[in-house]
Formats: sequence, C-alpha cells, structure tokens
Amino acid sequence: MTMKMTAKQQKYTDLVKQIDAVLEGETDTTLKMVTINCILYQAFADWSWTGFYRVKNDALIVGPYQGTLGCLHIPFEKGVCGKCARTLETQVVEDVHALEQGTEHIACDPNSQSEIVIPVFNNNYDLIAVFDVDSTKKAAFDSTDKYFLEELLKNHFTEAPLS
Ligand code: SME
Repeated sequence: MTMKMTAKQQKYTDLVKQIDAVLEGETDTTLKMVTINCILYQAFADWSWTGFYRVKNDALIVGPYQGTLGCLHIPFEKGVCGKCARTLETQVVEDVHALEQGTEHIACDPNSQSEIVIPVFNNNYDLIAVFDVDSTKKAAFDSTDKYFLEELLKNHFTEAPLS
C-alpha cells in the first residue's frame, strides 16, 4: 500500500528534484551551498533566513546565506547553531524566544520565531558546516523538514566527492 504524501512532503520532493538537477555533476562546496540556499529560500514564504555557518578554527563563521545580515562568528558554546555543532545533531526549536538570549539563542533577525539547524558532514564524516533556517512562524519545523533537509545535505555533501 502506498501512503499519500502530505503537501509539505510533496513540496520537498519537488524541491529536492530541482536542486539535484541543478547540481548534477557539481563538486564545489560553495556552489552547492548557494544553490541549496537560493532554491529553498524562494520556496517557503515564512522562511526569513537560510544559510550555512562553516566550521573554521573550532568555531562557526557565516557562509553563503539568504536573508538579513547574519552574525559573522558563532562560537560552538553559543546559540542553536553552536549546539548543533557540539552535539552533531539536528536542532528543532519551536519558539526561539523561550531560549536564553545571547547564550542558547543568538538573535540576528528580530522577526525569527522558530528555527531548524542541521549538521553538514563531508564524506570523511567531519563536520564542515551547519545549515540554519529561521521562520517568522512559531513551530514552523517538524519531522518532515528534519527528514528532507538531512537527506538533502547528506546526498550533496557526505555522499559526494570532496571538492
Ligand atoms: N539562529 C542562530 C543565530 C544565527 S541567525 O539566526 C542567522 C543561533 O542562535 O544559533
């Protein structure tokens, strides 16, 4: 028996196909990051920021992104991004205002209400970045976002040749 996909699952399936087609044969990390950002950011009206923080010298520095000015540096000890980098696990936050500001959450955009941050590994399983998505809606992210975003990043960065 095949289960009917939800509208969100269908949307992700279509977006993944589009990203896969654009990135076919591409190996450059920056090029992959800008493409994923651009296609996803345009697709969800409530997504206010999408972007990669790259690992450099045991901290995070902002990489390719779409949205308002992002924080430039995030230490591993701080923010949702830092927690993702420390734990190497996807973080889903339903209400960013419920977190302690400046420590558990770093507010770059006051309109952000909820977020998801996914770790990005290379094919050596080293953490190379985290992918951060902010929404203007509370509790915008669920297991569907987690599943599709983790798969997308795994397919393009972990199970792909190093650039
Ligand atoms: N959400 C992040 C900070 C970065 S901005 O949202 C672009 C955090 O607390 O880790």
